[in-house]
Formats: sequence, C-alpha cells, structure tokens
Amino acid sequence: MPGNKKKVLLFGATGGTGAVVGDKLLAAGYEVYATCRTEAQREKLRATKQFKEVMLLDLASMPSIEKIFADLAAMGVSSIDGLINCAAINPATPMETVSQDETQKVFQVCLFGPLRAVQLAVPLLRPTQGRIVLVGSLAGSYVMPMLGIYSSAKFGLEGACDALRRELYPWNIKVSLVKPGAILTAMFYGHLDDVKRQIADATGLQKLYIPLMNAHLREIPKTQSIAVSTEEVASDCMHALTSAKPQARYFSGRHSKLTGLFVRLVTDNVQDWLAKRIFKLE
Ligand SMILES: NC(=O)c1ccc[n+]([C@@H]2O[C@H](COP(=O)([O-])OP(=O)(O)OC[C@H]3O[C@@H](n4cnc5c(N)ncnc54)[C@H](OP(=O)(O)O)[C@@H]3O)[C@@H](O)[C@H]2O)c1
Repeated sequence: MPGNKKKVLLFGATGGTGAVVGDKLLAAGYEVYATCRTEAQREKLRATKQFKEVMLLDLASMPSIEKIFADLAAMGVSSIDGLINCAAINPATPMETVSQDETQKVFQVCLFGPLRAVQLAVPLLRPTQGRIVLVGSLAGSYVMPMLGIYSSAKFGLEGACDALRRELYPWNIKVSLVKPGAILTAMFYGHLDDVKRQIADATGLQKLYIPLMNAHLREIPKTQSIAVSTEEVASDCMHALTSAKPQARYFSGRHSKLTGLFVRLVTDNVQDWLAKRIFKLE
C-alpha cells in the first residue's frame, strides 16, 4: 500500500553512486526523497525518476540542510526509515598549497554538512528504528599524497560514525560507513581535470609539487583498472539499509577490502614506503 511505503532521504542523487542507489531504492519499493543542487537537475530528476520528492540541497550551506528538514515537516513527513548520503567533493591538492577556502569547503561538504543532517534526521529515525548510511572512502583508511584534505574529512567521518553507532544503540538506529576505493564517476574524472589545471596554472610553491601531480596522473590507468563499480557500492548501501545485521563498515570492492586489511596489518613505515615507491618521492 502506497501509504505504508518505507521512506528514505537520499543525498547526491544526480549521478554516480547516488543515482544507482536511487534506482535500487525505487526498485525495492521505497518512497524516496532525493536531493540535487540545481533547478535544472531537479526538473530532470522529476521527469526521469519516480522519486516522491526532489529537493534542493547544498551541503556547503547549513541553512540549506536545515531547509530540507523543514520541507519534510511541511510535507507531513514525521518519520523516515533511512538517511543515505552519497554526496561529496574530492579535490586533489598538496597539503602545503591547499587554500583555506578549499579546506573549509571540503570539510563542510564531506563532514560537517552530513553530520548536521544526521543530527536533524535522528528524531525522524527514532520512531522507525531507521538506518544511517554514509558513504566514506578507502581514503579514510589509507592516505594517498594529493588527497590529504579529502582524506582528513573522510577520517573525521570514521570517528563520527563510530560515535554515532555507539550513541544511537539505545534506539536501535544502526549506522554504517560504506568505503569504496576509486569509482569511475564524475568525481573521479573531475579531480583529474583539477590536477591537470593545477599543473598548467602552477605558480610559486605550487611548482614544487608538479612532479607529485604528474606522478598522480601517471597512476591513473592503474587506479582505473582496480576501480569498483557504482553497482557494487550501491549494493553495499542497500545491504546497510535493509539487512538484519548491517556492517559497521563496508569496504566496497576487492581493492578496498585488500587495502583495508593491508593498512590494519602493516606499520606506518611500510605504508610510507609504499607511497614513496608509487609516487617516486625519494
Ligand atoms: N569516485 C571515487 O573515486 C570515489 C572513491 C572513494 C569514495 N568515493 C565516495 O563515494 C561517494 C559517491 O561518490 P561518486 O563517485 O558517486 O560521486 P559523483 O558521481 O561525483 O556524485 C557526487 C554527488 O554529490 C553531489 N554533491 C556535490 N557537492 C555537493 C554539495 N555541496 N551539496 C550537495 N550535494 C553535492 C553531486 O551533485 P552534482 O551532480 O550537482 O555535482 C552528486 O550528486 C562520495 O562520498 C565519495 O566521496 C568516491
């Protein structure tokens, strides 16, 4: 019965992983409240997907996040069965040269914004013993040079998810972190363009990092060959939402599982040696 459908709030529904999660939710009979960033995207999603509602959300803006929940209340939505966040940004910049604006934006979109959304979602999840599914990254376990700011925010998400999982235990609200390695989406190709632009426009200190940036680009074919599919990542999100025993962490794809294990087994020195070898930093 339509009135009894389970409700999920899905962030980042326009493409990549979020789009596949959206399709899976609809196929499984969920009522989906999806988000995108622009009116044009909203019109497209309304025309092409059977979402219950498509709302505008910019995770970089706290008022925008709060408005999503005000809009849900205005629609009479007093409970939801899941919050799934697939939205993020992934600029690649060396730590010494990354701007304060960029640092703040990455932390806002990848960490502070999702955590504010979680705070506002929890009261809606209590009545249903609903689920929180946040997409993190293998970069929250192993840090590649150039991805330091993104990794720092994803590491923050690791700690936040552990705290949420333990604090929300009394209400049986389960929290899962889905951790893919590379996925060949707009995010992946966008960050490559970003690195190429930084090489072309480098001035001053940035020039010191051109060899690192070139090494990053040289690694791309290898990264592409071990990428995980959006299908696999989305399946892990669905498992986290629906399984009687969701995992705290899903290392999505073979490469992510192996690297996750590697990081737990070896010392920092070994991890540093590997990064030096890959990026020819000696
Ligand atoms: N791609 C990878 O290699 C990779 C690797 C490891 C982990 N991940 C993680 O996997 C998740 C999904 O990534 P993906 O590769 O599927 O990315 P994607 O295809 O680039 O999709 C990202 C989504 O986030 C939305 N978004 C970006 N900035 C936003 C903002 N300020 N407010 C609200 N929404 C915003 C995008 O909207 P627009 O369409 O408007 O841009 C898009 O819907 C992310 O958490 C990412 O960190 C990705």
